[in-house]
Amino acid sequence: MQAFIADSLHIPLSEVSGVVTFYSFFSTEPRGRHTIRVCLGTACYVRGGKKIVESLKDRLDVDIGGTTKDGRFTFEVARCIGACGLAPAMMIDDVVYKQVNVNKLNAILAKYENE
Ligand code: FES
Repeated sequence: MQAFIADSLHIPLSEVSGVVTFYSFFSTEPRGRHTIRVCLGTACYVRGGKKIVESLKDRLDVDIGGTTKDGRFTFEVARCIGACGLAPAMMIDDVVYKQVNVNKLNAILAKYENE
């Protein structure tokens, strides 16, 4: 794909590659239909963010940065999503979930199962 873009824009492949690898919102791998971002900023970390990460890794069978086999979710972590007062927090696409704990994860994920 990068070569196609470079050819189409008549610019060196290295220039396209430099942009793609510099900005974290670009990806060279196929992404899931939804993006989960669990906050591991300080407030969320001390209030259980790491437990949420570990639970999601088990439930989704995917590592951080990966995409589930069914292509539903890409799983990432973030450093602060601006909801520190109601930590721990996570996002799925542009929806912020606050005061998340492992018991709430099934209900949260169920909202995205029939899409
Ligand atoms: S540290 Fe998690 S929302 Fe700010």
